[in-house]
Amino acid sequence: MHILVTGGAGFIGSHTVVELLQQDHQVTIVDDFSNSSPSVLDAIKAITKKDFRFHLLNVSHSEKVDELFKSNRFDAVIHFAGFKAVGESSSKPLAYYYNNVTSTILLAQACVKYGVHKFIFSSSATVYGDNKVPFKEEMELLPTTNPYGETKAMSERILLDANQAHPELAVTLLRYFNPVGAHPSGLIGEVPSGIPNNLMPYISQVASGKREKLFVFGNDYETPDGTGVRDYIHVVDLAKGHVAALDNLESGAHIYNLGSGKGTSVLELVSSFEKVNGIAIPYEIVDRRPGDIAVSYADASKAFDELHWQTERNIDDMCQDTWNFEKNYQQK
Ligand code: UD1
Repeated sequence: MHILVTGGAGFIGSHTVVELLQQDHQVTIVDDFSNSSPSVLDAIKAITKKDFRFHLLNVSHSEKVDELFKSNRFDAVIHFAGFKAVGESSSKPLAYYYNNVTSTILLAQACVKYGVHKFIFSSSATVYGDNKVPFKEEMELLPTTNPYGETKAMSERILLDANQAHPELAVTLLRYFNPVGAHPSGLIGEVPSGIPNNLMPYISQVASGKREKLFVFGNDYETPDGTGVRDYIHVVDLAKGHVAALDNLESGAHIYNLGSGKGTSVLELVSSFEKVNGIAIPYEIVDRRPGDIAVSYADASKAFDELHWQTERNIDDMCQDTWNFEKNYQQK
C-alpha cells in the first residue's frame, strides 16, 4: 500500500514509518518540522535501508493538502501531525484548535474527494478523562482538563461522523496510553523541546546530567506508593499497533486502546530506570500537577482480540532504550 504519514518525522510517526517500510509499504511523509528535524529522515533511511517520499508541508493549509492528494495516489492516511504540549495548549488554545482540528478535517475531506479509503488517527487516552480504570473503548468520554485533549476528542468525533456520511472512508481511532522508549538502534527517539513535560524524557535528562533532579508531582494519590500510575507503552510496540490496525482496516469505524493494560507508578519507573541503567535518579516530592489524574491504564483486550496485537516490551526495555537513545543523541 502507498501510505501518507503526516508528522512522520515525529516521535511516534518516525517509528511507525520504520515498521511500514519494513513491511514493504510505500510511504510518503509530510512534516513541517515544527517539533522534529530533517535528520530524522536520514535516521529512518539508515535503519531501514529503504527510501520514501517526503514533502515539507503543514497539513492545516487547505491548498497544500489538496495539491498533495491531487498529485499522489494514496491507499491510506495515518495522521500523526499535531501540537501536543498539554500546558502550552492552555496558553495557546486557538493555535491548538486551529492546527489539530483543521488538519483532521482537511485530510478527511481530501480522502473523500480523491477516493482514499483508509484513515488512521492518533488519539490519546486523555479522552477518557477521569473515568474508572481500566479504560475501555466503549466508555463515555469525559471532558479533559485542557484544549489539547479536546482537540483529540473533537477529531475523533469528526472522523466518526465522516465515516457515517461517507461509509467508503474506513476509520480507525487509536488511543495511545503513555508512549516512551526509543528504537533499539538508538537512531530515533523522543527529543523534547525545552524542559520536558513528560516523565520519561525528564528522567532521561536527569540521568544525562542536563537536569539536577526529578520533581515527583505528588505522593498522596490513592495508589500503592502514593505516586501517579500510568500505562507506559514502548514506542516500537505502539508503531507495530499501527501496522496491525492498517492490516485489519477494511470498512466501518473502529476504536482501539493501544496500551499494555498494566499500571506503573512514578517511583516504580524511576527504580526500574536506575536498576537497568545503573544510574541514580535523585528526586524530590512536590505538589500535584494541576489536571493530573491518579491512575490511567488500558483495557487492551479489544486490540488483542481484533487486531491480534499486544505489547511485547516491558518497563525495563523502555528504560534501556530511552537511555540508549539519550546517550547517542548527546554525542551528536
Ligand atoms: C501527559 C498529558 C496527556 C498526554 C500524555 C502524552 C498532562 C496533564 N497530561 O499525560 O494529556 O496525552 O502526557 O504522553 O500533561 N510526573 C512527575 N514528574 C514529571 C513529569 C511527570 O512526577 O516531571 C508524573 C505525573 O504526575 C504522572 C506521571 O508522571 O503521574 C506521568 O506523567 P506524564 O509523562 O506527563 O504523562 P501523563 O500525565 O499521563
